[in-house]
Amino acid sequence: MKLIDNYGRVLKDLRISITPRCNYHCVYCHPLGMEMSDPPGTVSVADVRHFLAAAASLGMDAVRFTGGEPLVRRELPEMIAAAAGTPGVKDVAITTNGSIFRKRHKELVAAGLQRVNISLDAVDPQVFRRLTRGGDVNVVLDAIDLSLELGLHPVKLNAVVIGGVNESEVPALAAMSLERPLHVRFIEYMHLNNAPFDEYRRQYVSGAETRRRIEERFGKLEPVETDPSSPARVWRIAGSQGTIGFINSVSEPFCSHCSRLRLTSDKKIRPCLLTELELDIAPAFTAADPVAALREALLLAAGKKPKQGSTLPTLRERVMLGIGG
Ligand code: 5AD
Repeated sequence: MKLIDNYGRVLKDLRISITPRCNYHCVYCHPLGMEMSDPPGTVSVADVRHFLAAAASLGMDAVRFTGGEPLVRRELPEMIAAAAGTPGVKDVAITTNGSIFRKRHKELVAAGLQRVNISLDAVDPQVFRRLTRGGDVNVVLDAIDLSLELGLHPVKLNAVVIGGVNESEVPALAAMSLERPLHVRFIEYMHLNNAPFDEYRRQYVSGAETRRRIEERFGKLEPVETDPSSPARVWRIAGSQGTIGFINSVSEPFCSHCSRLRLTSDKKIRPCLLTELELDIAPAFTAADPVAALREALLLAAGKKPKQGSTLPTLRERVMLGIGG
């Protein structure tokens, strides 16, 4: 069984946001203020289990837990175990800021975590602190070391490049791929946070420009063969252990081979990150047979996945928190 949308795209990748909370307050993502607990109606472990059973029965085989910051959610290990224990699920990963990874890694690995994507937008401690509004880059660098030690292969690093904020960090971030098998992915800044349009336009940096900066410093990048359905175009600095990828969502949208569906932490399916459309599927979770009801919801959502998302600045109803990237 495959989940195929109206444009022939096979939907295999599930992103599940498990909390809108985050302990970092990155300038490009997060409104200030941190709620102490998840709002009522946030997905539970049983909800995740049912949703995964439904999705896997439709052929979805890769799960990524996001947030907010997924590690602030106490039940994350149970959710990872639910994913790892769902027949048909092959890939279980998280996207994390890494700040509490050392504290929790044992329970996550024991639960079946296979991979991590760690957000790292700067290597310089001051730039990092300013960007995350208080984060300590050394803690995140330690989480990256630990991920390699644990063999959570591949370890990917996400960097959103923002003009005037962290673009000067591009060479240092690229250099993370030199000595160790770290896969740095430069992500174009998307207008997802309702920043004023002119400010957003001023801060947007194209992947081509980021690549130019890297080549200026490290010489011509060499192409690396990758899965064409992956959003990243991947290269390497000659002789390096890791790779450098570009996720050019704005300048080169990859909608035609998008394979994703997202579940938000408040139980809505978001068929496209860049389209406001969300289907509230909360009732399906309390149906007599939730797995069957969630299967129907997934089929409906797949049918509503738009051909393309809009990367133009627009008024967003929701910021990244709770959608999860
Ligand atoms: N544009 C691009 N990427 C973003 N992320 C958060 N907000 C944005 C944005 N406006 C990224 C984070 C993290 C992932 C979950 O999404 O940096 O790596």
